[in-house]
Amino acid sequence: MKEVMGVIGYPISHSLSPLMHETAFKELNLEMAYHAFHVHPDRVEEAIAGIRGLGIKGINVTIPHKVSVIPYLDEVDELAKEIGAVNTIVNESGRLKGYNTDGEGFVRSLLEADVVLSDKRVLMVGAGGASKGVSLALAQHGLKEIVITNRTYSKGEELAENCSKFAVSSALSLEEAKDKLNDFDIIINGTSMGMKPHEDKTPISLDNLSDNAVVCDLIYTPLKTKWLLEAELRGATILNGVEMFVYQGALAFEKWTGMKAPIEVMRNAVLRQLGG
Ligand code: ATR
Repeated sequence: MKEVMGVIGYPISHSLSPLMHETAFKELNLEMAYHAFHVHPDRVEEAIAGIRGLGIKGINVTIPHKVSVIPYLDEVDELAKEIGAVNTIVNESGRLKGYNTDGEGFVRSLLEADVVLSDKRVLMVGAGGASKGVSLALAQHGLKEIVITNRTYSKGEELAENCSKFAVSSALSLEEAKDKLNDFDIIINGTSMGMKPHEDKTPISLDNLSDNAVVCDLIYTPLKTKWLLEAELRGATILNGVEMFVYQGALAFEKWTGMKAPIEVMRNAVLRQLGG
């Protein structure tokens, strides 16, 4: 009998997780299936009870349920608690434990790209859910500094205060960050700017980009945002959102199966689907 994994979200039909995980199961000849569950926000509690009842081994959680699942879990890992959001649930003999592999997935994608984090100055553009997960995970990896800049300054300040438990952290206005851009080694777009096809504005001007900077975008549709293309033209090392997506999935896969995730085939499956 196949073990069942899945993802809950609302909507969920465009999720690439089923394809990515099914490809990984097939690659390693695992008797496992992965299903996308369309779960209405009013049904989250029942959905979580269903994981226990049906003996589902592992679940990914996506928008808009990452925060609302938390009260129904038996345990939540420290980083996920800090972030206040869960994207992976592991069913350990009926006990459900929540993790957040988004930020750690991003960190792993940087490390796999041979980016050394110690002594690095990081600029996060954005202070929403995605920026929070990545910033709090990064802050715990020995950075020199992590600075948050955001349209709504107070939200950036709040996230910087959270990060300062783990690393030197402060907030800047977008204007200040733009002027000081060459102070930063790693610059990340965590905002939703760049998703719309004919958007003119970019998250932050790259005019003052330093040589050897690494520029990352958490967006993966399009595969390369206008901003990322501009960074590439300026000679920066770039990392698109596919890497974070693949590694967050890989970390979830490893928690469920105890096996090393076949990254290459997972990435290729996602890239094929996205036309990359
Ligand atoms: P997610 O969960 O994807 O992070 P979110 O929590 O809604 O989504 O956060 C969206 C982020 O994109 C925020 O940092 C938001 O800035 P505000 O806090 O000022 O709202 C940023 N953002 C979205 N649209 C933007 C725009 N047009 N210009 C600048 N920042 C924008």
